[in-house]
Amino acid sequence: MKPINVGLLGLGTVGAGVVNLLAENRDEIVRRAGREIRVTRAAVRDTTKTRECHVAEIDIGTDCQSIVDDPNIDVVLELIGGDGMAFDLTMAAIERGKHVITANKHLIALHGNAIFAAAERNNVVVSFEAAVAGGIPIIKAMRESLSANRIEWVAGIINGTGNFILSQMMFEGVSFEYALAEAQRRGFAEADPTFDIEGIDAAHKLAIIGSIAFGIPLSLDRVHTEGIRHLTAHDIAYASQLGYRVKALGIAKRTQNGVELRVHPTLVPEKALLANVENEKNAVMVYGDALGPTVYYGAGAGAGPTASAVVADMTDTIRVLSTDPSGRVPHLAFQPDQISNEPIRDRSDFECGHYLRVQVADQAGVMAAMTEVLADLDISIDAILQKDLPASNGEGDAHVIVITKSAREGNVLAALERIEAFEFAYAGSMHLRVAHFED
Ligand code: NDP
Ligand code: HSE
Repeated sequence: MKPINVGLLGLGTVGAGVVNLLAENRDEIVRRAGREIRVTRAAVRDTTKTRECHVAEIDIGTDCQSIVDDPNIDVVLELIGGDGMAFDLTMAAIERGKHVITANKHLIALHGNAIFAAAERNNVVVSFEAAVAGGIPIIKAMRESLSANRIEWVAGIINGTGNFILSQMMFEGVSFEYALAEAQRRGFAEADPTFDIEGIDAAHKLAIIGSIAFGIPLSLDRVHTEGIRHLTAHDIAYASQLGYRVKALGIAKRTQNGVELRVHPTLVPEKALLANVENEKNAVMVYGDALGPTVYYGAGAGAGPTASAVVADMTDTIRVLSTDPSGRVPHLAFQPDQISNEPIRDRSDFECGHYLRVQVADQAGVMAAMTEVLADLDISIDAILQKDLPASNGEGDAHVIVITKSAREGNVLAALERIEAFEFAYAGSMHLRVAHFED
């Protein structure tokens, strides 16, 4: 059979990983796909850069549009990133009847509804396995293998850079900045690393997870997003004393009153599976009503693992070339006319456990006043701890740390506001969530 000609838009970390993987596992891939895959053209910004792959057989230029327009290119790989030119090029490729594979979660989270509608109109497929959790086949698992289940919730560590930073700070004692620089050096971080540390990259991935899990439109603007930048060594240590690890989680949960979509640092019991996922590794737990919980663990970033997902999409795309369009796996798991408008809940209605850390003047009556406010707002306490602060942090001050049982977030925020209004309390308290997914 005629080989498939692939055009690469971008030949950076992931693009080079794809070229290398196609060369290293060529025979095995051809045995699976049934056709040879040839990367014939690539577009980059700077053609003089040294590439991390063998490029002798690739026609490398700077004109992305000419690849999209080239009638000899069967499949376009969008590996540039971002939501600007990546969107225009993806739409142009679709309009020209080309299948597109992308690792770009930003693109899919923001423009996926338009992209998939265009793909259906033009009878092509847009694949994006690498966009969520790098090499872990979580999209395939949720979209295909769990299709008999009503998915109740998904919770996971879905940003490798953020997890790498938290692990390195906890176990290697390095600073936030040092750990971030190391993640950048190893190729995990986004071109703009604020996407990693402010939770934006995880929000992109969670928007995709939420749509595939619940059959709702991509709703990036409804994902409540908090990063890890504000975490302190104090909170990581207090959490540890109380038996928890702090992990940056993405959580998509179905409730009776709508769907919760949120990304934030979370206290996870230290023996839980998710608490023990370290460095750039990702792990996603999915709870399906028939199967119960399942966990998908592996490398969430880096050249080889991401290329593994991109090349798997390529073999699927080749198979798709010979299938009836009506029988293809829908982009968002559910048939396009079955996408529902289930409401997405506001942050104030989220329900889970909470971690509060308040700095107070160490005087009589503080605990009583704080617990009275919590009781008044129907917030039940699970654990409470007081730690006197050394003179350098505030002579005569203490941290009061409270872990609550499951409570409505709006009530917890109101309680914190009332507590901070007491004369004995300082502003700038810490509020984190607590999750017990494996109970
Ligand atoms: P890189 O920054 O390493 O590579 C981007 C590539 O795009 C480079 O080759 C760059 O060219 C090229 N490029 C950028 N702008 C242009 C332009 N205007 N015209 C032509 N080429 C251009 O990114 P990654 O490979 O790390 O990421 C690619 C995508 O994969 C992103 O969407 C990212 O979020 C996603 N992803 C990345 C993972 C990872 O671990 N790195 C994991 C999962 C997904 P040049 O090399 O000349 O600068
Ligand atoms: N910057 C991303 C991460 C790359 O660290 O997880 C993988 O999507």
